[in-house]
Amino acid sequence: MKVTVVGAGAVGASCAEYIAIKNFASEVVLVDIKQDFAEGKAMDLMQTASLNGFDTKITGSTNDYSKTANSDIAVITSGIPRKPGMTREELIGINAGIVKEVSSNIIKHSPNVIIIVVSNPMDTMTYLVHKSTGLPKNRIIGMGGALDSARFKYRLAEALEAPISDVDGMVIGGHSDVGMVPLTRLATRNSVPVSEFISEERLNQVLEDTKVGGATLTKMLGTSAWYAPGAAVSGLVQAIACDQKKIFPCSVLLEGEYDLNDICIGAPVVLGRNGIEKIVEIKLSNDEKEQLQTSAEGVRKTNGLLEV
Ligand code: LAC
Repeated sequence: MKVTVVGAGAVGASCAEYIAIKNFASEVVLVDIKQDFAEGKAMDLMQTASLNGFDTKITGSTNDYSKTANSDIAVITSGIPRKPGMTREELIGINAGIVKEVSSNIIKHSPNVIIIVVSNPMDTMTYLVHKSTGLPKNRIIGMGGALDSARFKYRLAEALEAPISDVDGMVIGGHSDVGMVPLTRLATRNSVPVSEFISEERLNQVLEDTKVGGATLTKMLGTSAWYAPGAAVSGLVQAIACDQKKIFPCSVLLEGEYDLNDICIGAPVVLGRNGIEKIVEIKLSNDEKEQLQTSAEGVRKTNGLLEV
């Protein structure tokens, strides 16, 4: 299993690190445009191999995509991250051109690749990859819901004063501060609805804190987060590489599911060796349906800024 990670910045490097530590991939190739940067990150990570006990071979390349040839999975993290006060949508101008070029370079050397899009605005970048590459929809996956759900579980565990392993929950919809739809109704603590343990008011606070999860960190760190995004990507990569058939909410091209068409937005999917193997349509309440439609309107507005 060969995995390419484009962009050796904080998110890309953390993604490569988590993939390596989980020890299921034979090879990870990091690519960056900055001279020797990916090679340096790869060397540093390889020097952790004996300490962290992994055999994954990590190499770096300065924009030479021939090194990525025959990758099974490619993760696109390239582009600029947001600065405090910025929305993910404001990054579109610069990131669209980069994502388009990177995806075309990847496919040139790995025609059968499955692409995971991380660059923001993520749902629109996923749609752009769909429009510009023509890859089948099962091979284009946007990473957002897996991260947002991890942040949701963190906030739920905090509110419930429970271990995170006891908590389950999912966030669907767009990967944006206003567009996320955390499914509080379906969240559980050890299979008991969380509403049995905390007030509606506290649950609303969890919901609000989840939606601004990325913005909160951007304000604290001066740039966007990387550990949780990297870990979320590694979870998707592992589910595909190991054919786990796990359900994650991911940005996926919808064609009628959830009454949405011609849009990439977060919905639960089954991930296995073929990428997105199934879009899972769960029964939403009227309120959740309405939130998802509003979220989709926001994503469409950003998609409208694309020149494809
Ligand atoms: C975040 C970025 C990766 O939410 O979108 O941290």
